[in-house]
Parts: sequence; structure tokens; C-alpha cells
Amino acid sequence: MLIGVVIGSTRKPRCCPQIAEFIVHTIKNSLTYKQLEEKPELRLVDIDDWNLPLYNESKIPSQVQNYQDYDHEHTRQWSLEIQKYNAFIFVAPQYNWGYPAALKNALDYLFNEWRAKPAAVVSYGGHGGIKCSEQLRVVLQGLRMIPTENKVLLSFADRSVLTKATIGSPMNLLESPESSFAAEEVAQIETTFSELCQLMKKKTEP
Ligand SMILES: Cc1cc2nc3c(=O)[nH]c(=O)nc-3n(C[C@H](O)[C@H](O)[C@H](O)COP(=O)(O)O)c2cc1C
Repeated sequence: MLIGVVIGSTRKPRCCPQIAEFIVHTIKNSLTYKQLEEKPELRLVDIDDWNLPLYNESKIPSQVQNYQDYDHEHTRQWSLEIQKYNAFIFVAPQYNWGYPAALKNALDYLFNEWRAKPAAVVSYGGHGGIKCSEQLRVVLQGLRMIPTENKVLLSFADRSVLTKATIGSPMNLLESPESSFAAEEVAQIETTFSELCQLMKKKTEP
């Protein structure tokens, strides 16, 4: 089982990679993960690495059954990448009450590659990025993914954390997450991961 942990912002500098790594670290150290008989691999997928242009395919992705039918090589490669994963954790900041355009663009390129796969959302921002989370969840449903009911909302503890995040300076999340986020928010990571595992298990059952 392979879970893609999607890094949902692309600006430079940014804090999203630090938060995504913190999510992976927290999951791997959780009781839920340790007790799994078959441990899924968690792999970072940084949409910035893909450098996708603004959507430029001629077809509607839901009507493309074979990845070779996409017009462009960047889409074929992106399709092959996303086909590899059984489930996803989307990590995204709130931008102006929504989620980053680069993430929407990366999602819109494909359809069948996302379809029927369990997905969880981790959002962050001044107040946890609830609007980002809700909007992203609706889009994941539109892609016919299976989103978890639980979500992770990470609120920046104060203005200094927001400033640090915005300039991409180290947030020291692995050593002291409590200096940036509240303990109950961090606890949501395990609850949400646990639900994601249940959804993945349900899919493999006959
Ligand atoms: C274009 C833009 C819009 C933003 N809008 C919001 C917002 O609506 N709510 C919020 O809490 N923070 C907002 N922020 C602050 C971000 O939460 C913060 O800058 C964070 O570091 C962004 O994640 P990133 O570093 O991975 O890009 C915004 C930041 C940017 C760059």
C-alpha cells in the first residue's frame, strides 16, 4: 500500500514541505501506525516538482481511459505518478479563504487516476484553514474520491508562527510541534490517519 502525501503549495519560500514531513513523522510514530500489520509506505508528492502548466489538455479528463490518450507528455507522466498510489493525504495552506490554485490545477489534470481512492485533508493557516479544507473536500468528492470525515486543521499559534511559516524558516516541528500548533490539533493527525486506513481496508475487502 502506498499513500501519497501531496505538498499543496508551490511558492518560494513556503512552509508546506516542513508540515508534510511533520505529518509523515507523526503518523509513523503513532500507535495506529505501529500496530498495523501491513504498514503503508508514505511518500511525499511535491506538485512543485512537476511544474505543470496551467491546464492545457483538449479532453475532459473523466473521458480519458488510457493515459496515453493525453495530449501532453507532462500529463502522461503526472498520470503515471498518481496511478501508483492507493490513497492520499493532501497538505495545503489556506490562501484567501480557499486552497492554492496550483493544487487545483494539479487535481484537474486527471480524473480516473484519483477516482475511488481514499483521501484525507490537512490544512493550515491562522485559524486552521477550515475554508481551504471544506472547499478541497468538495473537490475531492467531485473527483469521486473517498474523503475521510475527520480532518486535520493546524492553526498557527500566533503571529510570529505565521511570519515564520510565510518566510519558510524552520518551524522545528519535529522537536517541538507545540510551539506552532495546539496538542489537540496534532492529535487529529492520528485520528484522521486511522480513518484513512479503515477506508483503504474496506476497499481491499471482497
Ligand atoms: C496568497 C496568500 C493568501 C493567504 N491567505 C490566507 C488566508 O486566507 N487565511 C490564513 O489563515 N492565512 C493566509 N495566508 C497565510 C498563510 O497561511 C501562510 O503564509 C502560510 O505560510 C502559507 O503556506 P505556504 O508557506 O506553504 O505557502 C495567505 C498566504 C498567501 C501567500
